[in-house]
Amino acid sequence: MEDVSNLAFRKIAKRIAEPGLMFTEFVSAMAIHHGAMKTLRKMRVDPAERPLGIQIFGADPEIMAETARIAEECGADLVDINMGCWVPKVCKTGSGAALLKDPDLAERIVAAVVKAVRVPVTVKVRAGWDYSLFAAPDLARRFEGVGAQMLTLHARFAKQGFEGEADWRLVGELRRAISIPLVGNGDVRTPADALRLLAETGCGGVMVGRAAISNPWALARIAAAIAGRPEPAPPTARDRIETAIEHAETMIALEADVDSFSAARALPEDEYRRAENRAIRSLRAQLPLYIKGEPGASVVRGRLSTCSTLDELREICETLLVAA
Ligand SMILES: Cc1cc2nc3c(=O)[nH]c(=O)nc-3n(C[C@H](O)[C@H](O)[C@H](O)COP(=O)(O)O)c2cc1C
Repeated sequence: MEDVSNLAFRKIAKRIAEPGLMFTEFVSAMAIHHGAMKTLRKMRVDPAERPLGIQIFGADPEIMAETARIAEECGADLVDINMGCWVPKVCKTGSGAALLKDPDLAERIVAAVVKAVRVPVTVKVRAGWDYSLFAAPDLARRFEGVGAQMLTLHARFAKQGFEGEADWRLVGELRRAISIPLVGNGDVRTPADALRLLAETGCGGVMVGRAAISNPWALARIAAAIAGRPEPAPPTARDRIETAIEHAETMIALEADVDSFSAARALPEDEYRRAENRAIRSLRAQLPLYIKGEPGASVVRGRLSTCSTLDELREICETLLVAA
């Protein structure tokens, strides 16, 4: 998830939830082609978080192949091609879900990426561009034909954005159209949702998006249910708060381009402050979600969504711990 599933998020998700597989934010092949360092950093992989898929998007088969090779060199266990993003800034370049309208180009992209790398290539699609055509089965068969090894279906049409409910019947239909593994996605929030999606559709795996934002414990419950492990204990207020702070610290290290928070803290003060400011600002929308529902959360929500230093965040969290 863009601006969410970066290395900081993934480290925490891995430790708390042990998911079977995680994916990076989507990475623009065109930006990589033009040498954008910020985009290149999105492909940083920590060996401890593997298995990891690096997701790429673009509309040019050669440039996608070049980016896939770089993703493989960065340590991707698989390269995933995004054909699900519906937002105009992506679709107007012919990338993301716009490819659902151009099956020949979509197939050429998958074929070029498969040829470029040794690791498995997977594709994330939506059901189709709009309700007029459930395009995924035809596309999926084409992708399977040129060597894609797994597919994920976000069971909505691109035109829907996030409107309405995901239609899991489409997952079942797509399952019957292909022989490679299919991952179902859309509106899975609880273990019961995940088990029902698997049972109703026969898909081989479940992808969780929004429910995992600032809530690695939801992911942990779902992962445990699927793996047949006992349900993990729910987090305490202190767990939530400490994890929010850990997330902020890890994000600062990421922004400073060093391996740990202590390494970031050891940087010259102005360099540290710049990284801190960027990191905390980038988490403003996510921090309040960590403590949603805790006593006193609504009082500090506003302060959390405007804070810009770690000290401020710690101070707000202290207030909450006193209230808890
Ligand atoms: C903030 C945000 C960013 C997202 N970024 C990506 C992305 O980079 N690549 C991708 O394949 N899907 C992305 N998605 C879509 C999710 O992966 C997922 O398909 C969608 O949210 C439906 O699943 P859910 O109901 O579990 O959230 C994003 C979703 C959100 C909310």
